[in-house]
Amino acid sequence: MTEISGQRVAGKRAFITGAAGGLGAATAHMLARHGAKVFLTDIDAAGVDAVAAAINRELGATVAWSAAQDVRDEAAWQRLLAEAATTMGGLSVLVNNAGIGSLGSIEQIQTKEWRRVMEVNVESVMLGCKYALPLLRAQQPASIVNISSLAAFKVNPDYSAYNTSKAAVAMLTKSVAMECTRQKIDVRCNSVHPAFIRTGIVAPFFDALGEEEAVRKLTHGIPMRRLGEPDDIAFAVLYLASDESRYVTAAELVVDGGACAI
Ligand SMILES: NC(=O)c1ccc[n+]([C@@H]2O[C@H](COP(=O)([O-])OP(=O)(O)OC[C@H]3O[C@@H](n4cnc5c(N)ncnc54)[C@H](O)[C@@H]3O)[C@@H](O)[C@H]2O)c1
Repeated sequence: MTEISGQRVAGKRAFITGAAGGLGAATAHMLARHGAKVFLTDIDAAGVDAVAAAINRELGATVAWSAAQDVRDEAAWQRLLAEAATTMGGLSVLVNNAGIGSLGSIEQIQTKEWRRVMEVNVESVMLGCKYALPLLRAQQPASIVNISSLAAFKVNPDYSAYNTSKAAVAMLTKSVAMECTRQKIDVRCNSVHPAFIRTGIVAPFFDALGEEEAVRKLTHGIPMRRLGEPDDIAFAVLYLASDESRYVTAAELVVDGGACAI
């Protein structure tokens, strides 16, 4: 019989990108509260330092560390993953969460902007998986969680770069998962697909449309008729990071209030 513990990721050592706010910060708090050590990065250095400090204050122990990282920088990935493994005594979870939105029809979008979205949203996930795998292989059972989006399956009008990037993350996830199964290593790789959650990435909607209209538009295709909460995604990551999901790999976990069903 499998033992159930309240500390669902006790002993896990997680590297989380884009952790200065939104879903990354919620995930960092969630994993730390459930017993993991967490190494947090973001391009917003002050923001991610504050999140790590808040976690350590709340838990009354040093379980969170932080560093500035631009996820487009290949050398920084190598340096920071090594630093995280040294600091935490290994690496068993990678959460590729950092991402950006980008509004613009296919005729409007500049090639430079398209490339920026692909670099931040897709290439970073490739780099993270590539350089984390040797460390994860040494800490089996291990888990990679890539934050994709509902946009991988359902088109956000005028978000062609974003939609495409998130669909690429889903397929990259499955590809990595299958490489791990073929190598017979216990490193799982799954993607999470949130619908709309109120974070920095959707702030432009609220700024442009106002509170009421933004909520109406964003919840229009959601059968549950509400936005998600950051913790709704953090709970999904908690499950995938933990050994509770030990038979789950190459999965697309939708957390979308039922949106994919219609
Ligand atoms: N909020 C939503 O509705 C929603 C829905 C689906 C998917 N997502 C995905 O969830 C993830 C987290 O987004 P969020 O909603 O918390 O938004 P957010 O804007 O609050 O968080 C994104 C974080 O990524 C960081 N970041 C941006 N560019 C970076 C770079 N080059 N290097 C390192 N860090 C960088 C930002 O500083 C920010 O802290 C993203 O991948 C996003 O696409 C969000």
